[in-house]
Amino acid sequence: MEDKRKLYIETYGCQMNFSDSQIVGSIMTDHNFETTGNIEEADLIFVNTCSIRDNAEKRVRARLREFNRYKKQKPGLIIGILGCMAERLREQLISEEKVVDVIVGPDAYRDLPRLLSIAETGQKAINVILSADETYADINPVRLDSNGISAYISIMRGCENFCSYCVVPYTRGKERSRDPQTIVDEARSLFGQGYREVTLLGQNVNSYKWENTGFAGLIGMVAEVNPQLRVRFATSHPKDLSDVLLQTMAAHPNICRSIHLPLQSGSNRILRLMNRKYDRDWYMQRIEAIRTYLPGCAISTDIITGFSSETDEDHHDTLEMMRTAAYDYAFMFKYSERPGTLAHKKYPDDVPEEVKSSRLKEIIDLQQELSHKSNRADVGKTYEVLAESTSKKSGMELSGRNSQNKVVVFPKKNYKPGDYVKVKINACTTATLKGEAID
Ligand code: 5AD
Ligand code: SF4
Repeated sequence: MEDKRKLYIETYGCQMNFSDSQIVGSIMTDHNFETTGNIEEADLIFVNTCSIRDNAEKRVRARLREFNRYKKQKPGLIIGILGCMAERLREQLISEEKVVDVIVGPDAYRDLPRLLSIAETGQKAINVILSADETYADINPVRLDSNGISAYISIMRGCENFCSYCVVPYTRGKERSRDPQTIVDEARSLFGQGYREVTLLGQNVNSYKWENTGFAGLIGMVAEVNPQLRVRFATSHPKDLSDVLLQTMAAHPNICRSIHLPLQSGSNRILRLMNRKYDRDWYMQRIEAIRTYLPGCAISTDIITGFSSETDEDHHDTLEMMRTAAYDYAFMFKYSERPGTLAHKKYPDDVPEEVKSSRLKEIIDLQQELSHKSNRADVGKTYEVLAESTSKKSGMELSGRNSQNKVVVFPKKNYKPGDYVKVKINACTTATLKGEAID
């Protein structure tokens, strides 16, 4: 048998991209490649890229410059750009980055073997065609970098919300859902292999739809695979977070008590410009619904600061909403104008960089305070923790997460990754809970 050639994949961006890299790994291992974690020995390097903010693209460009070195050492080496930057920049990337041989958008991964054979003849190869129905439902992902305990399952692709700041509808195309039976089968197979947690992924999982099955129906089916299988999901759009979903969560203790609900801004005027399709009242009423149906549920969010025309008053509205929602965790970003988006066409990127920075700092400081407060309130409580790995800091400790998605570290004793352990919390930092197993 011919020796297998080696593929190294580097992934940037969201969980969806990490999930896509596993699909790519699977397609390539069916075509005489094996994946490697060592870039030095690679015959093929794929970079799965992100376009969400300008700095995500800059990081990839800087990385590409480093690849020149590997190409000099190994002239037959092929370099492919996958994902959102490939889709957004297309041929432009080939002319600007000489090191690149192959450009492939998120819906064209099945075409990789053909594109590769073109690249092997010394020509540049490109496929950025978006699809209305590709979901890769039949492809069994290669679980790259997996801890063997938690896995992603992609349930839908694309996005049609057209938030005015966001590049995703352009890079990932139309929204389409995957056959629920294939999702349940994948969850069952993962459980059989020893996995204990799955995260259902989509740009807006709440708009999942396959015939008569909506997201609440789907997550109920996955939860019923086994009560020992934890189920998480990301990401939700506040406009679509339904009471039926919250009721389904309440009926299944293994659907994790953690909801990511991106706010983006706390100002009604900015939310309108962002085309978010909800206002402060609607958002707070969704938070109250979560608190009613799911007491003790953690809530996390995304915030963008410094969107077009944002005033100090708008910024204070955001800070106020953060306090009221009392988020357990937040991802916080400065607005980055993306070419081709509605905001780029209609609303100038007019908040000065220093103002963006100082507002971002205030937001981060506030979130630190909220996260710490939330963690302090957990001291004295007991949680069921799914142990995931030996703690980075000490070989004598295990690290895992509770249902609320908080990291919990505790002395190992006889426990091992994959075990569910009852842990009593006795201390905390802003980022971590510390405790002890109780038998
Ligand atoms: N600038 C800054 N942040 C952005 N996000 C999306 N687009 C932009 C942008 N142009 C943030 C949003 C989204 C998260 C994934 O990234 O908060 O929820
Ligand atoms: Fe980045 Fe968005 Fe593409 Fe994910 S979908 S890789 S976050 S641009």
